[in-house]
Amino acid sequence: MKQSKRVLVTGGSGQLGSTLKKAIQSTTETIDFVFTDSKDLDISNLESVMEYLNKADFDYCINCAGYTQVDKAEEDEEKALFINEHGVKNLAKACHSYNTILIHISTDFVFDGRKSSPYLETDRPSPLGIYGLSKYKGEQEVVRNMDRYFIIRTSWLYSEYGHNFFKSMLKYGRERDQLSVVFDQIGTPTSAHDLVTAILKIIVEEIDNYGIYHFSNEGVASWYDFAQAIFDINGIQVDLKPIRSKEYPTPAERPSYSLLDKSKIKKVLKTQIPHWRKSLEEVSKNMGSVK
Ligand SMILES: NC(=O)c1ccc[n+]([C@@H]2O[C@H](COP(=O)([O-])OP(=O)(O)OC[C@H]3O[C@@H](n4cnc5c(N)ncnc54)[C@H](OP(=O)(O)O)[C@@H]3O)[C@@H](O)[C@H]2O)c1
Repeated sequence: MKQSKRVLVTGGSGQLGSTLKKAIQSTTETIDFVFTDSKDLDISNLESVMEYLNKADFDYCINCAGYTQVDKAEEDEEKALFINEHGVKNLAKACHSYNTILIHISTDFVFDGRKSSPYLETDRPSPLGIYGLSKYKGEQEVVRNMDRYFIIRTSWLYSEYGHNFFKSMLKYGRERDQLSVVFDQIGTPTSAHDLVTAILKIIVEEIDNYGIYHFSNEGVASWYDFAQAIFDINGIQVDLKPIRSKEYPTPAERPSYSLLDKSKIKKVLKTQIPHWRKSLEEVSKNMGSVK
């Protein structure tokens, strides 16, 4: 008889994978996690994906793997699609074959930002750049190739792990006297810890309302607001200037508005989500950066 749930994690050394690894150290649930990184399991290789899923009777696969360089993707379209579309298709096919539930992470960048109220799961994606397009194509492969999946779109992910805006601001805020950050892109920062809590709840409670979900922290912010809060909470003195996106051109265009409506996930998981500022205080404490 099977004793505990078995969960395969792909992209286990990235930001979300590392946050998950940390979270399971303090969980009391009996779940067997197998963490893989890109060297152990390259999701763009169907043969190795099939082989890996065949190794054990996995109940779930959490896909934390992805091509995540938004600007680089503009000149690296083939690679972004190879990982985010083709790689996700491999995972979907293998999970379907081995009866494994796939929890796949997607992004607010599948939307173009032209809405003025929070994006619903049913809103039509219309990505502005290659990264968003590759993630949308990956979602479509999941929907096309299997039934038992959770696609969780999230936004502005940060934590004490990997590369993210929070860590960059802590660094630049301490090194420089003055910084400029855009104020005309609106969304919600999301603590990777809070996203991991939601993912684990899906597994522990064996939620079976499969489909697409939106998850971010509560509240609204511009990148300028987010930076200001990072400096306030962490006691960093820096002259922060609000600028328009056109004053800080990037290879990939970003949605100017990417608020996600979280009603569905809150209802299905019967949970509340913390405000982004409260979670930022927690992550700052974890980081040991609060003076
Ligand atoms: N970061 C954000 O702001 C944000 C926002 C919304 C959604 N998301 C989504 O959330 C997910 C997790 O993001 P993250 O911030 O944790 O990203 P991350 O830190 O860049 O981690 C991605 C991981 O994927 C691995 N990977 C890349 N190609 C792979 C392959 N072919 N096979 C297996 N693993 C591969 C990378 O390993 P190597 O380093 O060895 O290549 C890396 O460990 C991604 O799907 C991302 O699209 C992120």
